[in-house]
Amino acid sequence: MTKDFTFRLLARDGAARRGEIATPRGPIRTPAFMPVGTAATVKAMFPETVEATGADIILGNTYHLMLRPGAERVARLGGLHRFMHWEKPILTDSGGYQVMSLSKLRKITEEGVAFQSHIDGSRHMLTPERAVEIQCLLGSDIQMVLDECTPFPATRDEAKRSLDLSMRWAARCKTAFAEMSKPGQALFGIVQGSTYPDLRKESAGALVEIGFPGYAIGGLAVGEGHETMVEMVGITTQFLPEDKPRYLMGVGTPQDLIAAIGQGVDMFDCVMPTRSGRHGQAFTWAGRCNLRNSQYAEDETPLDAESSCPAAQYSRAYLHHLVKSGEMLGAMLLSWANIHFYQELMARARTAIEVGEFDDFSKEMGRRYGDTGP
Ligand code: GUN
Repeated sequence: MTKDFTFRLLARDGAARRGEIATPRGPIRTPAFMPVGTAATVKAMFPETVEATGADIILGNTYHLMLRPGAERVARLGGLHRFMHWEKPILTDSGGYQVMSLSKLRKITEEGVAFQSHIDGSRHMLTPERAVEIQCLLGSDIQMVLDECTPFPATRDEAKRSLDLSMRWAARCKTAFAEMSKPGQALFGIVQGSTYPDLRKESAGALVEIGFPGYAIGGLAVGEGHETMVEMVGITTQFLPEDKPRYLMGVGTPQDLIAAIGQGVDMFDCVMPTRSGRHGQAFTWAGRCNLRNSQYAEDETPLDAESSCPAAQYSRAYLHHLVKSGEMLGAMLLSWANIHFYQELMARARTAIEVGEFDDFSKEMGRRYGDTGP
């Protein structure tokens, strides 16, 4: 197995790319979907089950893990992989985004972001250097720079000021990473710039100048809508190097993923399959399915006959009952079926790109799911 972090493009179909990231903990086939394991668990799923769905990599969160159980404690316990029984690659988000969406009384300065924990009100400071240090203590394979996810909507001035700060933080993260990281680990930059094409270009250019082994696109799926999101992704990927992986953060629906792959994105994460699963919503090859709906009360057909997931073979009637009764197994089976669906979606996208049929696949998914969402 390789000791380095490398990315290889294997095929292209239009702007869509099929690739493979090599890491010391194993390969990541791209396009890739990373299940979200915020607090050292992909909620309601066993790590073995997550692996069996075909996931090559999962995501963890600096913000949650620094507060509980604490990065130093995870390090003393042998690192995040060992702690959570997941031996394949882990990408960790840097915390900036979660601080802004979850914590109380946060204050951003040049130095970093000061905030109070949403758990117990304790005070913390996340600087670019500390964000990297925490991700090194966790032992994540792909780290993210500390950034500010520019709130939406933002004026051009606000977006520019926010992006300038994120770019200065990105440079500081790279310096800290060079001192603290181990061979084979990677640090990705994050493009910001809100919905301003020239700022997206400027941000991508600034990060490429600093130089990273991968680039994320941040600040999207924050209320701008599917069309604008896809447009911003297309503008941004144009200014990113061909030979480095591109990761669209926090996105999205099946249609969002297919559209973004069509704009040259390689990696995704989103809480949607697990969160929807816990709320009785299933993703199937026939479209979305809300198991709370009484139309399924006596429906003996499997959740998704087209899926190879064991959880999708349970009857809709049984899943309806579990969801209506608030039974844990309902959340477990639907999270499993949904993560499996997202992995199958990526597998089918990879095959479609390999055989030059991504456009047909994209149209077929549009017919099944509607072009822009439910
Ligand atoms: N997750 C979703 N969007 C973002 C973003 O803009 N920055 C970070 N760090 N994480 C995200």
